[in-house]
Amino acid sequence: MKILVASHLEPSAISQLQQRHDVICTFDQPTADLSSMVHDREVLVFRSGVEIARAVMDCAPDLKLLVRAGCGLDNLDCEYARKRGIVLRRIPEPAAQAVAEMALALMFALARNIRQADAMLRHGQWAKDTLEGHLLAGKVLGIVGAGNIGSRLGVLASSVGMEPIGCIGDSPPVVVRALHDKGITVADFHTVLASADFVSVHVPLNDTTRNLINGRALSLMKEGGYLINLARGGVVDETALYAALTAGRLRGAALDVHEHEGQGQISPLAQLSNVVLTPHIGASTVETQQQIGVRVVEIVEAFAQQSEQQSMTAARRETEIRVTAGALSGEMVRI
Ligand code: MLT
Repeated sequence: MKILVASHLEPSAISQLQQRHDVICTFDQPTADLSSMVHDREVLVFRSGVEIARAVMDCAPDLKLLVRAGCGLDNLDCEYARKRGIVLRRIPEPAAQAVAEMALALMFALARNIRQADAMLRHGQWAKDTLEGHLLAGKVLGIVGAGNIGSRLGVLASSVGMEPIGCIGDSPPVVVRALHDKGITVADFHTVLASADFVSVHVPLNDTTRNLINGRALSLMKEGGYLINLARGGVVDETALYAALTAGRLRGAALDVHEHEGQGQISPLAQLSNVVLTPHIGASTVETQQQIGVRVVEIVEAFAQQSEQQSMTAARRETEIRVTAGALSGEMVRI
């Protein structure tokens, strides 16, 4: 198959694909450049950082399969892909543990002033007396979006003595029971915000979640609370967050995802010492990317095999039709 890998993918997965397919790699290109590279491609593999807009798909008449090497679909025009009949496969499972661990790591970093301590020590400042932190144990963790990632975080947080409380968009009794069995109390969005010392956001970005954590939501949080965002930049209103941090309402924030991402982008939040910023690396662990790479290869191979079988069946049917037509007209048909 003709494949375009548009984002960084595990090198061994790329080599395996190259053994059987025609593979082009071009990582994190802007939409216009991507559009010029997809014209003959049948498969597109991508992560976050590229925009798979209608314009890109319009330049790829043969595109049959989209492989989202991860979870979020906010960078894909899903509606248009569906209309075009392009098959979409995502690989949400491997990243869940990595993102949950990263959320916990960021909570530790905030609670123990790791960023400030590191920066000061590099300048010779021995701030042992001023950098007193807080325990996570005994604190309430509010999980906005207690789905696959959020509920894992709840379990990790329980193991260090935190009390997880979470909300989830669709919460039928069976889901509530499953979360309860994991030690997570289920409550509504406002209760989660109001009762948590740490609020961690894990919802997909869509029309219902854009700016979900806005000025009003931040004002509902406990005085001195912390906000962690590993969902998507557009879910948190960063201007409102900046205001809440500079006003001292919130004690700190950690963001792995940002309103503006990519090379050269510097968030205004970078001016604040109580903010930890990382470049969308929640899913970036060696183990996670290896697992994702394996799944990408499996998905492409299964699709290629299926396409091959379908075209063989179609060819056989055409031959049968020709034979039948030939028999009816009295012609001898050799196949
Ligand atoms: C994801 O949605 O899977 C993550 O944002 C990781 C990524 O795509 O890089």
